[in-house]
Amino acid sequence: MTRILGIESSCDETAAAVVADGREILSSVVASQIDIHRKYGGVVPELASREHLRQIVPVVREALAQAGMKLSDVDAIGVTQGPGLVGALLVGITYGKTLAAALEKPLISVNHLAGHVHAVFLEAFKSGRVAKLPAVCLIVSGGHTVLYEVTAGDSDGQDLDGLLRYRKIGQTRDDAAGEAYDKVAKLLGLGYPGGSILDRLAAVSNRAPAPVKFGATKTRGNPLDFSFSGLKTAVLYHVREHAEYSGEIRTREEALQRDERKFEQLLPLCSPQTLALVRELAVESVMVSGGVAANSQLRATFEERAKNMGIDVFFPSRALSTDNAAMIAAAAFERFRAGVFADSSLNADPSLVLA
Ligand code: KG4
Ligand code: ZN
Repeated sequence: MTRILGIESSCDETAAAVVADGREILSSVVASQIDIHRKYGGVVPELASREHLRQIVPVVREALAQAGMKLSDVDAIGVTQGPGLVGALLVGITYGKTLAAALEKPLISVNHLAGHVHAVFLEAFKSGRVAKLPAVCLIVSGGHTVLYEVTAGDSDGQDLDGLLRYRKIGQTRDDAAGEAYDKVAKLLGLGYPGGSILDRLAAVSNRAPAPVKFGATKTRGNPLDFSFSGLKTAVLYHVREHAEYSGEIRTREEALQRDERKFEQLLPLCSPQTLALVRELAVESVMVSGGVAANSQLRATFEERAKNMGIDVFFPSRALSTDNAAMIAAAAFERFRAGVFADSSLNADPSLVLA
């Protein structure tokens, strides 16, 4: 059994986890910084780095304790190289490098987005399912909205190392989906981050007729691309044109300032225009990962349409959808098996691409 310690510090979560053979989560610890960034309405890079520095040692210690292990029991260390905030990434990378050198264990660099894909495999394993490849994977979070085709690297015998292969087939032209939720929530005086509260409000207000229909966003060129900034603008104009919103928005903003994160009002967000083209790719599975994958409407839409099309759809649990280190350890295992290791020259790459 190979036990990999995963370390994640790309944004505002300091996380560590131990995963056995890339699929069994022995522990997973996530220290969120939301409370620190909330009053700024977004992640403040300087504060994030400082908080990672404070959290990294206790979080790793806790992950080992929960797995019932000592540092010396770890077989390899996987760490997020990017994409993300450079100062934040450097904390995890430096700590990972130091541990690897001190323990004389292999160091493995992981692309954060590959981690989100692996979150799907971890969840599938937990529930006894198999996510068959090829697949399309939609990664939707506060920082990313991107669609990949995922194929098994060894299917044609070319990639003897067996690494998964990724091809980017669509992406956002402007805001990430989670960012759009957060901006809309801010407009409506619903606090930060806003995805989860908008989701819950939408569920409560299911039967109320929508005050306005925000059409699906169309993009020229690649039909698999996304655009969310138009939606945010549409909400902004709608709210501006209807003075009746302003009172309640102000009321909520005041409540938020008193740290009362209540919810009211709803907002229906459009669902992605993805599945229609899935057939053309002849995929076996659809995978959705990232913080916004927790969204109930998104899940329901995918599940319903995939069922109609006879395709398996996979969502990680909420804990595995948002940033965590178990997905990093799982992605690291794939590279461990393929013998792809990093050395002490490993550096953060804030704009590392997967494909
Ligand atoms: O993956 P994540 O934890 O961090 C990033 O890598 O960005 O995603 C956080 C994002 C936030 O923008 C948050 O508003 C959104 O995910 N989010 C949701 C839901 N839960 C979190 N968006 C829609 N519906 C949800 N239930
Ligand atoms: Zn992420």
